[in-house]
Amino acid sequence: MEIKQVGVVGCGTMGSGITQVCAQSGYQVVVSEVNEKLLNKGLSSINSLLTRNVRKSRLSQEDKDAILGRIKGTTRMQDFADCDLVIEAAIENLDLKKKIFAELGQICPKEAILTTNTSCLSIIDIATAAGRPEKVLGLHFFNPVPVMKLLEIVKTIATGDDTLEIGKHFGETLGKTIVITRDAPGFIVNRLAVPFLLNAISMLESGVATREDIDTAVKLGLNHPMGPLALADLIGLDTVHFIASSIYDEFKDPQYASPTLLKKMVTAGWLGRKTGKGFYEY
Ligand code: CAA
Repeated sequence: MEIKQVGVVGCGTMGSGITQVCAQSGYQVVVSEVNEKLLNKGLSSINSLLTRNVRKSRLSQEDKDAILGRIKGTTRMQDFADCDLVIEAAIENLDLKKKIFAELGQICPKEAILTTNTSCLSIIDIATAAGRPEKVLGLHFFNPVPVMKLLEIVKTIATGDDTLEIGKHFGETLGKTIVITRDAPGFIVNRLAVPFLLNAISMLESGVATREDIDTAVKLGLNHPMGPLALADLIGLDTVHFIASSIYDEFKDPQYASPTLLKKMVTAGWLGRKTGKGFYEY
């Protein structure tokens, strides 16, 4: 099956990054948001990143125009009617994702592959809502999508072998390195990363070290590009808490229990980069 047109549901941080990478890889992309304001915000962030690449002479103006020309923004789910593959990147809410998949199952061609970028929700729960679970898999991208090389492909118990092969080929055409994981809580990366992030927050909470020293220790002692507190701010503290809680609900393992400091910061609306304040100020 040849994929020509890709749909992306949601044009937030992940959806806009996914849209950009798909359009850069030559796909026609339809991207949706719930309203014009959010759509324009997402599209203008793609425009700014491409403009930056033109300014740095990494992209010609012609190529930038061609990439933008392949992207069509919409607020109507009906516009996914001609998509061969759809990537859902809406907020992490199971009921919302089920609703979106039920609609996609009605609207998209019957051969179309439906995928979700969820970082922690059970994909089989989402897949059944579409009425074609054999055509559903997880495509878990990493933030910032244009920079991060990894794509976790999540296979549920119902994903067809041909669907998995199409997903793998599609991911490779985006220039990503693929790892395959079962539909298990946190998949590979978050199952490992969440206890690490939560431990850093607990260390800060109990006064073991300052935020700067915790992050510097990890950057220089483990050679990570950024420390865990800065990374939590990049991911979004509400997202870190949500992912941790959903893995905790499944395993009941205390290493996935959010520390009090994280919960209080989320309640205060200190969500990291996106709100201008998290463990650091932006
Ligand atoms: N979008 C596109 N490109 C971006 C970007 C963004 N949001 N942020 C940074 N970049 C690009 C920059 O353009 C820059 O490229 P050039 O220098 O070639 O122009 C390059 O990345 C490096 O950026 P900076 O120089 O500004 O800063 P840096 O060297 O500190 O890198 C970083 C920034 C790429 C974010 C790096 O610190 C990094 O890789 N951090 C770790 C990110 C990570 O672990 N992400 C995974 C989060 S977990 C997740 O997403 C999944 C989940 O389920 C929660």
